[in-house]
Amino acid sequence: MCGIVAYLGQKNAQPILIEGLKRLEYRGYDSSGIALLGDAEVTITKSVGRISALEEKVGVDVSAATLGIGHTRWATHGAANTINAHPHVDYTGKITLVHNGIIENYATLKKWLESKSVEFASETDTEVVANLIGYFYSHGNSRNGTKVPASGNKFEWAVQEALNELVGSYGLAIICSDYPDTLIGAKKGSPLILGVGEKEFIIASDASAIVEHMTQAIYLSDNEMVIANRDGFKTKTIDNIAVSKSLKEIEFSLDAIELAGYEHYMQKEIAEQPEALATCMKGRIDLKSNRVVLGGLQNHLRKLASTKRIILTACGTAWHAGLVGEFLFEQLARIPAEVEYASEFRYRNPVINDGTIVIAISQSGETADTLAAIEQAKERGALVIGAVNVVGSTIARTTDAGVYLRAGPEIGVASTKAFTAQVAVLTMLAIELGRRRHLSNEYAGELLREMVQLPDKVGLILKQSDHIKEIAKANIDRDNWLFLGRGLNYPVALEGALKLKEISYIHAEGMPAAEMKHGPIALITDGMPAVFIATRCSQYEKIIGNIEQVRSRGGKTIVVATEGDENIKQYADYLITVPDTDEKLQPILNVIPLQILAYHAAVLRGHDVDKPRNLAKSVTVE
Ligand code: F6R
Repeated sequence: MCGIVAYLGQKNAQPILIEGLKRLEYRGYDSSGIALLGDAEVTITKSVGRISALEEKVGVDVSAATLGIGHTRWATHGAANTINAHPHVDYTGKITLVHNGIIENYATLKKWLESKSVEFASETDTEVVANLIGYFYSHGNSRNGTKVPASGNKFEWAVQEALNELVGSYGLAIICSDYPDTLIGAKKGSPLILGVGEKEFIIASDASAIVEHMTQAIYLSDNEMVIANRDGFKTKTIDNIAVSKSLKEIEFSLDAIELAGYEHYMQKEIAEQPEALATCMKGRIDLKSNRVVLGGLQNHLRKLASTKRIILTACGTAWHAGLVGEFLFEQLARIPAEVEYASEFRYRNPVINDGTIVIAISQSGETADTLAAIEQAKERGALVIGAVNVVGSTIARTTDAGVYLRAGPEIGVASTKAFTAQVAVLTMLAIELGRRRHLSNEYAGELLREMVQLPDKVGLILKQSDHIKEIAKANIDRDNWLFLGRGLNYPVALEGALKLKEISYIHAEGMPAAEMKHGPIALITDGMPAVFIATRCSQYEKIIGNIEQVRSRGGKTIVVATEGDENIKQYADYLITVPDTDEKLQPILNVIPLQILAYHAAVLRGHDVDKPRNLAKSVTVE
């Protein structure tokens, strides 16, 4: 879970690397570094903390090097210090590389290298890769006795031999001081893209580090490597079989990844939800036939509609979206559904019957746990559908078919617009499956007409930001919060609690409101904030009862209610209203005030909203 970027071309590499690292900083931000190769000499600069610290350290364009690699780190092996920060250099000083992923057999390889008197400087698994390549390169033969071919490129050969020894995951960018015109990239399990310009190339973990300089890219698949030099590039498998990759247009513009006047990406992404939802639904809802058209699933809809069981699998926020999906598949399509934490699914020998369909939900499309669950499901013969935001991501490519969320780039670590798009996609799918089963044309029509109004209704909620900020301010000193909802609002409560804790570091618990009386009610003390999602729904009267239970014990109630609900006012210490909509669609509206509440709480507490401590945007380790 790190970001890598590398440049080879005609321009000064340093500013391109620093800018690229800034764009990738969301992937990890505990330390960073760059290596520049000029005149057969590699200059490395590393720094602990944010990219701005590295930028300060390297100074302004001190190197004219046109080849270089960079890295921003989220520590897995070894503390966040400059010794463990990347780039790592091998013991001969010739090979320098950056790595995103985990080398699972690093201890075995390290032992072998140490038996050959190779010394290590860091605690990282990555240094093993550098030293292994360096060892093969300097000896001209590999661990299994293969020798460098007489006519071959020794650098390329050594990298390839080393890659064949690695167990685990990697996105790698590698340079060698003897080859000042060559940049090598390799991928397995971690994302890697090659941006292709006019006699220039950028290797990066994602397109955000590329799009400013070039608009076309190739997406490497697992076990593939790319060898770029100043005239062109070639791609092959790590078994040395040539592969031809097609150039793809990078699908988003620079504007989509800039702050555009907002103070934080999270703030921008919350505000972008009307547009993101509209784009997500565009061309997919047909109000004439009351049907949903999901192009990527067209060939699988019959199977989906007749399946006996759907398993939704995901992590974190995407898992909360899965809980909404579970409810809707059961309610609208009457298909038994269950939601699994991807991290648990893999290790509990899941029963996957003939006809089980697995839906994997992910913003990044790179989450290691979700990928592992997909592999498990595929091995057992399930059809696996993806609901993914990042185009061309590993999950998007690994699943049998899928629907893109079309939420646009999400950079703030806390997921916001991807959540509402995930719920929108699952809702559309549930409606379409329902139409193919028991759902009436009339009700499907009602729901779909309501759905297309959601972007405007979200826009109205966004206007209450200042009011919600006042609520956050009034409760900002409270260190324990509860989030409570019932039915479809239970996942919303979970999501509200997760948002608050991950960016404001306030302890928050989300739960079904009725469960509170079975234990957590003991937590309620005078003035403790309890956020209730109590919009008009089939359990409205019941949740009023739960609110009273909290008030009678001194808790402060922050109530999200339906606009125009006069009755609710007597139960709310603080009231936030949302426009009315069908109960099945309420999660998309009701989560918005909770995102805004968490955002303001984090800002008021003075935290780095977009880069909360200990977190990274995509979790590519298990
Ligand atoms: C929370 C958050 C995480 C992610 C989770 C899955 O705000 O962003 O909980 O939802 O790590 O990530 P994706 O959706 O990329 O698979």
